[in-house]
Parts: sequence; C-alpha cells; structure tokens
Amino acid sequence: MATYAAFHRRSLEDREGFWAEQAQLIHWHKPFNRVLDYSRPPFARWFVGGETNLCHNALDRHLAARGKQKALVWISTEVDKSRSFTYEELFFEVNRVAAMMKSLGVKQGERVIIYMPMIPEAVFAMLACARLGAIHSVVFGGFAAASLAARIDDARPALMLTADGGSRMGKHVLYKALVDESLKLARHPPRKVLIFRRGLDPAMASVRARDVDWAALEREVTLTDVPCAWLESNQPSYILYTSGTTGKPKGVQRDVGGYAVALAASMQHIFCGEPGETMFTTSDIGWVVGHSYIVYAPLIAGMTTILYEGVPIRPDAGIWWKIVQEHKVAVMFSAPTAVRVLKKQDPAYLKKYDLSSLKHLFLAGEPLDEPTHVWITESLGRPVIDHYWQTETGWPLLSAHPGVENTPLKMGSPSFPVYGYDVRLLHEITGNEVKDGEKGVVTIAPPLPPGCMSTVWGDDQRFVDTYFKDFKNQLIYSTFDWGIRDKDGYYFILGRTDDVINVAGHRLGTREIEEAVSAHPNIAECAVVGVADPIKGQMPLAFAVLKDASKRTTPQEVMETVDKQLGAIARPKAVHFVTLLPKTRSGKTLRRSIQALAEGRDPGDLTTIEDPGALEQIRQSLGNQ
Ligand code: PRX
Repeated sequence: MATYAAFHRRSLEDREGFWAEQAQLIHWHKPFNRVLDYSRPPFARWFVGGETNLCHNALDRHLAARGKQKALVWISTEVDKSRSFTYEELFFEVNRVAAMMKSLGVKQGERVIIYMPMIPEAVFAMLACARLGAIHSVVFGGFAAASLAARIDDARPALMLTADGGSRMGKHVLYKALVDESLKLARHPPRKVLIFRRGLDPAMASVRARDVDWAALEREVTLTDVPCAWLESNQPSYILYTSGTTGKPKGVQRDVGGYAVALAASMQHIFCGEPGETMFTTSDIGWVVGHSYIVYAPLIAGMTTILYEGVPIRPDAGIWWKIVQEHKVAVMFSAPTAVRVLKKQDPAYLKKYDLSSLKHLFLAGEPLDEPTHVWITESLGRPVIDHYWQTETGWPLLSAHPGVENTPLKMGSPSFPVYGYDVRLLHEITGNEVKDGEKGVVTIAPPLPPGCMSTVWGDDQRFVDTYFKDFKNQLIYSTFDWGIRDKDGYYFILGRTDDVINVAGHRLGTREIEEAVSAHPNIAECAVVGVADPIKGQMPLAFAVLKDASKRTTPQEVMETVDKQLGAIARPKAVHFVTLLPKTRSGKTLRRSIQALAEGRDPGDLTTIEDPGALEQIRQSLGNQ
C-alpha cells in the first residue's frame, strides 16, 4: 500500500476485508466465521466465532523461533536491580503463576485484581490471567485504599495479587498494608490475597486463611504446563478503570481477539517494531499504555520489552538514554510530562549516549506542546511522533503511520486519523461536521474498530449513555476532547470538553477529586478545576466551603484527605476556602469560569450567575496565593 490516505480509506470502505487481512497477524486456534457483527449498535463484535488467547500470541507462538531471545528486561533504579527473561523463561514463569492461581481456585471468567509495583511478577500475573481466561484488572499503585476498594466492589475479584512494597524516588510505598486497608472498606473482598515479598516491608502483617505467600505457593505447585484457555474472540480479557465526569470510575472492558489483532497491526503500521528488536515504554502497567505497549503489543510482535521501575531523573537525567544505548532500543514510547521534566535538566545527558538504534520516539497521554516537541526532536535527531488515544480505544486513534508512509510531522500535532477509525469533528451544539480550522468535538462514527472497549464492565447501558449520547439524534462515539483540523488534514487536540483533567498524563475526574475533598468532615461543598501547569500539563485546584467556619481547617488537612481517598496524584496544588461557590441560578457550579480566572483568562459570559460576589471571592483568593 503506497500512501497513508489510501490505506486509511480502504480500512473504512472495505472494513471487513481490511480487518480480515490484519487478523492474519495473530494465531487463531479456531478461525472466525464473521469479521464483524454490528447487529446491535453501538456494540461491535469482531472476529465472531474465532478462538484465540492473548498469552499464546504473546509467548507460546514465539517459542520455536525465538525461545532464547530476551522477552522481558526489568530494570529498577529504585532497588538497583535488573533481571531479564528469554521467551522460554518468561513462558516458564507465566505457567508457574498460572498454576499458582489455578491452585487458588481461579477459574475462567473470574476477575483478578493486580495491585503491584513495576516488577516482573506483575507481568507474569497479567499473562497468567490471560492464559487461564481470567479477567485481570490492574489498579495503578498510586491509587489510595478507598479508590482501590471502589474498584474491588465493582470487579468482585476471586483473587488479588500484591507485593509487600514498592519504591518511588527511593521512598518505600507499602502496597500490602494499603490492600489490607482497602479490604476493610470493600463489600466484596476476594477469597485470597497472593503476596510477593520483596523485603520492602519487614513488618508486613498477614491475615490468616486469606493471605498466601507467593514464594511458599511457588514451591508447592507442580510444574506442569497450564494449557491456554481458548476464548471466543469477544470474551473479556481485562477491565481497566478510568475516570470520567461522574465520581464513579468506569470499568473499560476489552475483548481478546480484536485487541490482539489491533495491537499486532499497530506494531507494523504505526510503531514499526520488528521481531527481535527492543521496545521501551516508560509508562506504568496500571495505565492503558502499560497494558498495550509494555506488555501485550511488544510481546505479540516478538520483541524484547523493557519494564522500568524508577523515575527519569534518578540516578541522573541520562538514565533512559543509557537504557536505550545498552539495550539498543528501537522503539521508545513516553509521555510529554517526562520530556518536559528532562528538558529542565542538563542537555549534555542526551549527547552522552549512542542513540543510533532508536527509530522513533512516540509520545502520548496528554497534549504535547510545540516547544517541547521541537526541543526533543532536535535533541534526539530522530522523529518524535505525537499520537493521541484513550483508555477506551486501547491503541492509537490519531497518529502518523511511519509503517505505511513517512508523512511529514507537524510540531504539536498527532497527525491523522488511524486506519479503522472514522473520525469526525463535530460542532458541539449542531452536531454538524465543522470546517477545517474550526474547533469541534473529536468523535468516531461507529462501529469502533477492533481493540476498542467492548462495553462498561457490568453495565452495557452506561457504555451507551456515557459515550454515545453526547449528540442528540446521532449515535456517535464522543472522545470528550476538542480538536481542530488544519487545511492539510493534520489534527490538533485542544483539551477535554468534560470535567476530566490530565495531571502529568494521569487522567483524573474533577468530580472524583471533589468527592475526595468532601470526605473531609468540615467541608460542606467544593469545586475542583484543572489549571495549566508548565511541567505537569494541568494541576487540580480546589475551592471549598466550610461547614463550620469557626473550626480550624487547614489546606494541608484537606490535601491529606485527598491523598487518603484517591491518592497523592490527585492532590490539589492549593485549597482555597470561600463562603460560597459561583453557581448558575439552576445550581450548576461555574467550573469553566473558575478555571478561566485561575488561568488568568476572561471568565466568559456571567449573565446566568446567581451571586457575582462568589466569583469575586475566587478572584481574591487567587490574588492572595
Ligand atoms: O484528553 C486526551 C488525552 O488523554 C486522554 C486519554 O487519557 P487515558 O485514558 O489515560 O489514555 C491515554 C492513552 C495514551 C484523552 O482523552 N490525550 C491522550 N493523548 C493525547 C492527549 N491529548 C493531547 N494529545 C495527545 N497526544
């Protein structure tokens, strides 16, 4: 195929033919009998009747040709250790963990929550679940006990896996203690908790009859190979919770076959990752980028994947480039915040190492500002590809396609719609397509392509109501992002249309943070908005009304409440106390006006405001910062 445009066009005009071809990139135990079943819009079922398994495609399939090749390299600058596993070794480890999980009674279709630091055992656990047909739900280690409990109650796991501790910036983080706390709050706790001890919490407590020691169980299980469960393509592979406009996180449910095909295809057409090459994705397994591009996609492609526990500037700001040199990384994937952090360090670190193995650096997760895009492109001397997607899509939605055609890159733009996605920019009110150069909502005309979410876990109606009802009279998927397309067809993302904010690439709902702030006993109500931050992209800022103003309440106390409820990633940059919040006469908090004031912009149309004094208080408290 010669050009991107023709490739994209064909993916929509001959949808089934296109995806039937891409489906040949993976192994099918039983061939599918229909490429797409779209008889119940907007639910799309891909590769109907086909049977496959993600773990088989990631591991078993490569044993003959690349059993001795490295599959997983773990590097921890936190505990100063590294380990690597060939495909054969990883296969062995995954089988052993699958046997351990089986011995604890885990069955196909049951949920397993993985709350673990960035260690190889977490990857074994994910792949072991896939092998057994158990549905994993990895929860990011930065989430606090109450958030974890909410996810436990929604997923109702049979088993949880954790470790005694993790480490961040040299400080120990106690995972198991947090799991204990969450299980006190949860109404649907798992039968068992399997704990991997790293020696990071010598005082770790154990709950009898519930807690199982990883090493002890490892010794007990008989080491027979655990056969892969052959799953119909549309069965769930995992649930990953993500934030939206409500306080309740949504369980994004992914299928098996469509996801495997989408990832395999993306490695060819977008990421250009060849078997035997190395991929280094700096995300966390608790996020979608970690699921897709640390674990599944590179392994499905027969690559070596790097799992990195640490931060980009320890022991120094050259650590990532050192890894690129030592492991001859060909494909690297990171986030704009990390690049902005590196930009503030000595540029000599970028010159110190041989980066000639690197073909591209991919960046996603949050807006990539033009100066940062220019800086990293010039510093690396390699194409830096901004690409845009979401937990919901599971793989890129806007991107350049160097595996198809080397189209020129524009700084600050994630280029073009990816094959399979019928992207439309719609006017927020009329729902009509906007012209080039006009701002619109980024939407996708369904069916969503393979690999995208199948539904909200346990709640089909919520899937439809959340994503497909943004426009009256049109069944169209809304990304809830603003976008604009220039005359050359390049897209630019302009931020969210809803109350979701993005802090250092971490997606957080302002409603969730508001609920966490309100958990403080002396807070009557509050408004949380995202304000621009030069490094993290955005930071939450809280305005709170006290129940009893005579009771001393400090911003610090409120921040600690958020740490405890949600996790430190959601901690507001500042908490301002006011006596009332700016609201419309119908009682809606004017978040956009508050945000505008906080960013030094015009608060906009205020004709509907109930009491202008409220906005004046916001202005004054910001002035007193
Ligand atoms: O607002 C968009 C922003 O991140 C959101 C999705 O976040 P998450 O579900 O965590 O998935 C991240 C997968 C990479 C989007 O709705 N976003 C993601 N990539 C970009 C972006 N905003 C601007 N430019 C991007 N390249």
